[in-house]
Amino acid sequence: MDRYVVAMTGGSGAAYGRRLLEVLASTGATVHFTLSDAAAKVIAHELTIPVDPADGPGCVRALLGDAPDNVVFHHYKDLEVPIASGSYRTAGMAICPCSMGTLGRVACGASSNLIERAADVCLKERRKLIVVPRETPLSEIHIENMLRLTRAGAVVLPASPGFYGGGETVERLVDFVVARVLDQFGVENDLMRRYGEPARRRHPEED
Ligand SMILES: Cc1cc2nc3c(=O)[nH]c(=O)nc-3n(C[C@H](O)[C@H](O)[C@H](O)COP(=O)(O)O)c2cc1C
Repeated sequence: MDRYVVAMTGGSGAAYGRRLLEVLASTGATVHFTLSDAAAKVIAHELTIPVDPADGPGCVRALLGDAPDNVVFHHYKDLEVPIASGSYRTAGMAICPCSMGTLGRVACGASSNLIERAADVCLKERRKLIVVPRETPLSEIHIENMLRLTRAGAVVLPASPGFYGGGETVERLVDFVVARVLDQFGVENDLMRRYGEPARRRHPEED
């Protein structure tokens, strides 16, 4: 099933979400993409890219410099779209980055917008749900919410890149986390140097 859902929320680490969208789109898979208002604020802050969910597919163009046909944009408040229903089959969803707010709402089943509803759908349909939180330190509430999600079948994949690749750059660290998300989806990738293996693809911004 070559259909994925990618959502960006207001956690720090917008670069992870942008790179995930870019690499997943480059596989030719259909990528349903949505982002929260808070994500747009963090993107502006961290990537200096002005985006507004109201811009529709313009958000994809702003993030990727292109709007590939296989990336389908949804406003995060629009619940009348296929990914809000379990009957629309996908291979799963990544929330990257995942704010602790969104993580908590998904953990308690409070689907107040499309991001949370699409995640809820993945859990109820037993599809892959990957959440990429970035917060430190963690409160007991954060930890309990992550445990709850893990028990419900989600993969909690913290944005904690390994530093063992050698010659690390920010781009390589971003690719490390994105590679682990793609691994969870079962998408072949050579974004990171795997322990015990030599080759990896260079990040375009390293050239
Ligand atoms: C610049 C910036 C960085 C933020 N970093 C984080 C973060 O790393 N983790 C987190 O959980 N929330 C972070 N927040 C707070 C969330 O954006 C905020 O809780 C927001 O309400 C989340 O909304 P959302 O879940 O709808 O995206 C950050 C906010 C801003 C403006």
